[in-house]
Amino acid sequence: MKHHSQFPLVPIASANGVWLTDVEGKRYLDAVSSWWVNLFGHANPRINAAIKQQLDTLEHAMLAGFTHEPAVQLAERLGALTGLGHAFFASDGASAVEIALKMSFHYWRNTGQPNKTKFVSLEGSYHGETLGALSVTDVAIFRDAYAPLLNNNILVPFPSGAGGPIGDDAFPCCIECADAAAAALEVLLAARHDEIAAFIVEPLVQGAAGMRMYHPAYLRRARELCTKYGVHLIADEIMTGFGRTGSMFAWEQVSTAPDMKPDLMCLSKGITGGYLPLSCVLTTDNIYAAFYDDSVARGFLHSHSYTGSALACRAALATLDIFAADDVIADNREKAVRFTTLTLPLKKHPRVKALRHLGMIWAFAVDTSTENFAKKLFAAGLARGVLLRPIGNTVYFMPPYVIDDESFAMLVRETLAAIDEVVA
Ligand SMILES: Cc1ncc(COP(=O)(O)O)c(C=O)c1O
Repeated sequence: MKHHSQFPLVPIASANGVWLTDVEGKRYLDAVSSWWVNLFGHANPRINAAIKQQLDTLEHAMLAGFTHEPAVQLAERLGALTGLGHAFFASDGASAVEIALKMSFHYWRNTGQPNKTKFVSLEGSYHGETLGALSVTDVAIFRDAYAPLLNNNILVPFPSGAGGPIGDDAFPCCIECADAAAAALEVLLAARHDEIAAFIVEPLVQGAAGMRMYHPAYLRRARELCTKYGVHLIADEIMTGFGRTGSMFAWEQVSTAPDMKPDLMCLSKGITGGYLPLSCVLTTDNIYAAFYDDSVARGFLHSHSYTGSALACRAALATLDIFAADDVIADNREKAVRFTTLTLPLKKHPRVKALRHLGMIWAFAVDTSTENFAKKLFAAGLARGVLLRPIGNTVYFMPPYVIDDESFAMLVRETLAAIDEVVA
């Protein structure tokens, strides 16, 4: 709160499309999709209409012992899209991660391997900030203060050149880096698979670590290794899901083979188009079957009051309808080509390094020793009408998919001007 005396909170009064408007009428281009959740713009007429209609029918009923049409339809549609036919609903990304971790451990317990209590994650990973999720997170600023409270999990090397700094020259990760990191994973799994329940991973790009992108070959190898050593693979698609990386789910770029699917997949953020809190953990018949039992102790007991809220599920269904009706993935592919061309002025800027792009995400490092660069650029961006939230010296664009060429060009232009102002 003390920092806000220098960087005051921005009171938002309304929003439309890619624009947020504050109480004084000043507009900001939401270049971070309100923390990576918004897909089709604020106040999207189609999602608004779906929620309004649902509101008059059923707003919410507990999902314990009861169910409702929006939850059933959503589970069916997510199952069809991912090939993972069982859905467990929750309310936020972190709660989905908690569920995936607990479900993995409990599966092994139910199948006679109760010593599998450890989880493996990549260096630089971010999976949320509740205690379980934080225990598989490796971002110091969120983790350090709570380290004494966290389970002792295991980190493996990120698949980039020599574990180099974010945005180094080896970027994006080469195939040799993927092989080297996979070899390190194999050494660990070979030695300790008896105590490891699951490997949890953000497929293709680590968001909170600074949009660190890496080669799908690493995940193909990781999938094979997890199968070989009897360890679950949890794909945390909370940020990458729903088209961010250029495919509906990032895992589709890893493999579409049925035997290469993740064992568990966490979804949230874009699932409701950025409207309402909802998350979902999808899993396989095999994991489902291990809990199907007369004994309550073998069942998966986990609940959140607002799990699978009917309003949120309806927003999610409307979101999936838009994907289908507008052929969003194909449309984004064309947009991404045009937008990448629009980022060329960034490439020419002497301070801009390691400009990279995956799907509807663009990121680069700014070569500067300016103190508090991220906060200063955030403030300079706001003054110029763009909402940027740099991560350290990494600046990224992850706008709602409805952004048009003119607004994207404006985003690039104002970002460059803000950088010049801050690093001068
Ligand atoms: C990959 C990933 N996992 C989990 C989370 C946590 O989600 P939530 O903030 O909804 O708890 C995030 C949030 O940024 C994320 O990016």
